[in-house]
Amino acid sequence: MDAGLILDTLERASERCADPAPLIYRRLFELRPEFESLFVMDTDGGVRGSMLTTCFNCILGLIEGSATQHVIISSSRFSHDGYGVPVQDFDLMFIAIRDTFCSLLGPDWTPETDAAWTDLLTGIASIE
Ligand code: HEM
Repeated sequence: MDAGLILDTLERASERCADPAPLIYRRLFELRPEFESLFVMDTDGGVRGSMLTTCFNCILGLIEGSATQHVIISSSRFSHDGYGVPVQDFDLMFIAIRDTFCSLLGPDWTPETDAAWTDLLTGIASIE
């Protein structure tokens, strides 16, 4: 996986949108409308914000080769089953992040960038 291309995506996306959280959650709820109701108690967006920060830390940790992020993904994958997120749907959050960045980058989202994200997402999906 090309870590440089992932970092480049994060940088370009942040130049275009200071707070991508609403776009990312909108995409997640497009992919799985029934997940929106899981956040009804999150009236101030605090849980969604902290969840997204954890996702970004996982991405950054994985491209740096940190083993800690494997443990966080693995344990979250199973704890989320208890929140009503089936194990196989857990990765939709990372797919929503990828899709949102693809839209934000527009023509700057190259086939190479796409391949780097596919590698990253495949790696995450393989963490049990
Ligand atoms: C489709 C994917 C996902 C859905 C629908 C989802 C849903 C939720 C929900 C409903 C909560 C609140 C649970 C509660 O307090 O009762 C939560 C919390 C949390 N999620 Fe997710 N989640 C998803 C993916 C992820 C991913 C990929 C990560 C990162 C590894 C993650 C990390 C967290 C963390 C750290 C919290 C606790 C946040 C806090 O309370 O401060 N989630 N998630």
